[in-house]
Amino acid sequence: MAADKLEEKTERETKMVDVYVMGKHYKAPEGLTIQTALEYCGYNVIRGCGCRAGFCGACGTIYSFTYDLTIKYALACQKEIEQNMVIMQVPFFPSIEAIYDLGDLEPEEGKNRLLELYPNLITCFGCNNCTKTCPQDLLVMDFVSDALRGDYEKVYEKSFDCVMCGLCAARCPQGIQPYNIALAARRLRGSYLTPAPQHNLDRVKEIEEGKFDVELEALKKSSETELRRRYAEREIEPAL
Ligand code: FES
Repeated sequence: MAADKLEEKTERETKMVDVYVMGKHYKAPEGLTIQTALEYCGYNVIRGCGCRAGFCGACGTIYSFTYDLTIKYALACQKEIEQNMVIMQVPFFPSIEAIYDLGDLEPEEGKNRLLELYPNLITCFGCNNCTKTCPQDLLVMDFVSDALRGDYEKVYEKSFDCVMCGLCAARCPQGIQPYNIALAARRLRGSYLTPAPQHNLDRVKEIEEGKFDVELEALKKSSETELRRRYAEREIEPAL
């Protein structure tokens, strides 16, 4: 079928939505996400795209409407297109992540490691832009306050669903990076404040005592084909 006929048929059977990508007008089928709509419109989405499932945070996107210029935020792989949506891709957020060695950061009474790593945390004046921007609806400003008090546990709880898209940092007038601060808090909590699981400790001990040496040596000598076969035939824990 000729392309124009196919397009005509598609338009007849599917409700088409008017969208604008970087100012250019397109029609795309209702129900597509911003990401799939971009591809439908002919864009090759190879930057600002990862898991396509709302987990990796690579697809932070801003959009508005022709009748409402307020900037809104979303993950492009999750947000469905709407009539008269104006889409602007934001493929990359420059961000400065503190460089640290977790081993040097044991939490101590009276020392807020997060403030040491991110001193501008103290400049938050509570505008709440970060919370309004978060596509995961997290209480970002709340966990920034928790971070300021050095409450790693609270930051962990409130930021658990963060996908590291960086949109919160993009909107902070003080240049604070809530997502990186929360990541540091979760790492500190995991390293120092959570008891190590006994089964892990037991397994590490077994490895150190050489329990698996023979098997590991055999694996090292295996061909790629053999490794692939063993991988495909491995025992998989049933899903709960
Ligand atoms: S592509 Fe991974 S969150 Fe959207």
